[in-house]
Amino acid sequence: MKKLFLMPLMLLATFMISAACSEENPIQDGQEQTTPGENDGEEGNEEGGDEEGGNVEGGNSRYLVLYCSRSGNTEQMAQTIQSTLDCDMMEVVPETPYENNYNDMLDRAQAELDAIGQGNYPVITTSVESFDDYDIVFVGYPIWYSHMATPMQTFLHNHADLLAGKRIALFASSGSSGISTSEQDAASLVPEATFEESLLLTSSSLGSMETRIPQWLESLGASRETGHGENVAVSLGINIIVGDQTVTATLEDNGAAHDFLSRLPLEVTLEDYNNGAEKIFYPDPELSLDDTPRGCAPQAGDITIYEPWGNVAIFCRDWSESSSLIKIGHINGDGIGLLQGTENINVRFERQ
Ligand SMILES: Cc1cc2nc3c(=O)[nH]c(=O)nc-3n(C[C@H](O)[C@H](O)[C@H](O)COP(=O)(O)O)c2cc1C
Repeated sequence: MKKLFLMPLMLLATFMISAACSEENPIQDGQEQTTPGENDGEEGNEEGGDEEGGNVEGGNSRYLVLYCSRSGNTEQMAQTIQSTLDCDMMEVVPETPYENNYNDMLDRAQAELDAIGQGNYPVITTSVESFDDYDIVFVGYPIWYSHMATPMQTFLHNHADLLAGKRIALFASSGSSGISTSEQDAASLVPEATFEESLLLTSSSLGSMETRIPQWLESLGASRETGHGENVAVSLGINIIVGDQTVTATLEDNGAAHDFLSRLPLEVTLEDYNNGAEKIFYPDPELSLDDTPRGCAPQAGDITIYEPWGNVAIFCRDWSESSSLIKIGHINGDGIGLLQGTENINVRFERQ
C-alpha cells in the first residue's frame, strides 16, 4: 500500500486520570451492543479479518476507509464500505490495546476523553503519509460517552494539516446515542475539511447495514469505479453559482481536476486579472498536479491552473497557448458570460 504506512510510535500513553463516571453513562449495565454473531463484548478488539490486520489495499484508490473499533461493530461497517467500493482501508490502532474488561474500558475511555479535553491525546500506532489521491476519506469510530472514540480523535488531531481541504464522511456505531457530538469533535479537530452527510448505525439498526451503507454511499456520489474514466458525466459536473444565477461546467478527468472536485463545495472571490481576460483565485493548499497533463491553448470558458503561481484561472476570452497552463475543466455553453467583465465576483462551486 504505497500511500499508507504504519508508524510505530515509541511513546507510552500516560493517562492516570481517575476514571470517574460520566454524567452520561448510557451503558451502565455493562452490556455492549454487538452485531449477532460478532464479538461478545468481553473480548478486546481482535484485528480485522485479513492477515494485514484491518488494512486492505483496494482496486479503487479514490477512497480511503479509516476506522477504529473495539468490539467489531464499526469494523463491520468499515468492511462493508470497503467491499462496496473496493477501496483502501486502514485500521487506526491504539498503542495500548483496548481493555478486555468492559468496565475497565469504560473507565479508560472516560479518562482519555478527559485527557483530550486537556490537550493530551492517547498514542496510536497508525499514520498516513498523504491523502492527496483520495476523493473521500471515510472516518469510522464507535461512540464513547457521546463522543468520537479516542483513537480516532488522536488520528484526526495528528493529521489535521494533511486532511485540510479533503472531503470527510463520518460513520459511527453506538448503542443508541446520536452522532452530533462526535461530528462537533471532528469539526474542531479538522476545521479545514469538508464534512459530508454522516452515517450512524445504532444497535437496533446495525442489522440493516447491507442496505443502509450502499444507500448512503450513493447519496455521497461514491461508486466502485476503478479509475477516472467511468461515470465521468455524473462525477465531473459542477455548478458555478453567482448570486441567484448558476452555470454548469465539466471538469477534466485528471488528477488536478479530481483534487479540485474533492474540495467542493467551495466559496471564493474570483479576482479580475488582465483587464477582463481571466478570473483567478488561489486554492490553499495548491491543487495537486499528479497525473495531470501540462500545456493548454485556453478558450473562453476554460478553467485552468497557472502552474508557476498555483492559481486557478478561468479564461473569459481565448488566449495564447502556454506550457505552464493546465486545463482542469470548461464552463458549458455560453455560461462564461456570467463571469465576464472586470469586476471581482463571489462564486460558489458545487458538485452536481
Ligand atoms: C467506552 C465505551 C463508551 C460507550 N459510550 C456509549 C455512548 O455514550 N452511547 C451509546 O449509545 N453507546 C456507547 N457505547 C457503546 C458503543 O458505542 C457501541 O457498542 C458500538 O457499536 C461499539 O463499536 P465497536 O464494536 O466498533 O467498538 C460505548 C461503548 C464503550 C466501550
